[in-house]
Amino acid sequence: MAIAGWVPIRDDLRAFEPYGAPQLDVPVRLNVNENPYPPSAELIADLGAAVAGALGRLNRYPDREAWTLRAALARYLGHGLEAAEVWAANGSNEVMQQILQAFGGPGRSAVSFAPTYSMYPEYARNTHTRWVTGQRAADFSIDAADAVALIAAEQPDVVLLTSPNNPTGTALPLETVRAVCAAAPGVVVVDEAYIEFRRDGTPTALELLPECPTLLVSRTLSKAFAFAGGRLGYVAAAAEIIDALRVVRLPYHLSAVTQAVATAALGHGEEMLSRVEELRAARDEAATWLRGRGLEVAESDANFVLFGRFEDRHAIWQGLLDRGVLIREVGPTGWLRVSIGAPSEMDTFYQAMQEVLDR
Ligand SMILES: Cc1ncc(COP(=O)(O)O)c(C=O)c1O
Repeated sequence: MAIAGWVPIRDDLRAFEPYGAPQLDVPVRLNVNENPYPPSAELIADLGAAVAGALGRLNRYPDREAWTLRAALARYLGHGLEAAEVWAANGSNEVMQQILQAFGGPGRSAVSFAPTYSMYPEYARNTHTRWVTGQRAADFSIDAADAVALIAAEQPDVVLLTSPNNPTGTALPLETVRAVCAAAPGVVVVDEAYIEFRRDGTPTALELLPECPTLLVSRTLSKAFAFAGGRLGYVAAAAEIIDALRVVRLPYHLSAVTQAVATAALGHGEEMLSRVEELRAARDEAATWLRGRGLEVAESDANFVLFGRFEDRHAIWQGLLDRGVLIREVGPTGWLRVSIGAPSEMDTFYQAMQEVLDR
């Protein structure tokens, strides 16, 4: 899809296409790291009641500050956080864009470490923030000394770390985040979109908030919380940092319906998260299965695994698609990423994968 020549779009945007993985209508969709389990009938009834409550006031603008929802998010996060130390937006994508609007911008730069989430450069582009990438090591970890050296050289306004990382699944030790915080002249963002899937012993950067005032820890309800369609992302940071994000948010950016349904979902946190354990076990099983086929698999703390390496990864991706299984052709050359689905979906993936490997 090229932008029509007569459309007076910004020159630096003209060559781009809208971001997004293919939304194909196939039986098994394991390509965007969703939680495969829809809400139960009881949960749907409760969420419906919460939405109905909001509908009666739809003539009014919603709470611009989303205080009830932010208090519920703070309770969910724990770590002594209060509502004023939490901010929410329509997905962590919007949170991240707000972070770059407030802390990036013309004449400013952001550093991240590749391979990582492919949306980040787009937030940078949209906010005119110079985008600088360091490289992850062969095992997809970040070498703390390399990171500190890059930060010392670039003096970035924003450092963006992803833990667990997408598409590799790699989590960061707190020591690395601590070293980056000490070296960074601006803010440090740890994107923890997948953190609830972490293996035992893997820490969360929330622990570092008291000692690092310029740290922001971003999260989402889209993954473990099984709420991707609800569009709710959030971030924890010092109240003063949250105030900076409030400067760039659109007024009433979170609709009354979004606030009501997300608050109600958080009230059913245990049920929303009830499949996380099962998905973690299925993730480890997938890694074992793929390794059993002689493939390389990156260590994963997320609800997906990156595996390879293939001389022609597109042929493998296409072979799976031909068998009704959609995975993601993303990440370093030769690797593919599969999201963890329900048991029947994983069985179909294994069968299709075996057939493709046996060709
Ligand atoms: C690392 C990471 N961050 C953020 C997001 C965005 O999530 P959402 O906007 O649904 O909260 C994703 C989505 O896949 C992701 O992989």
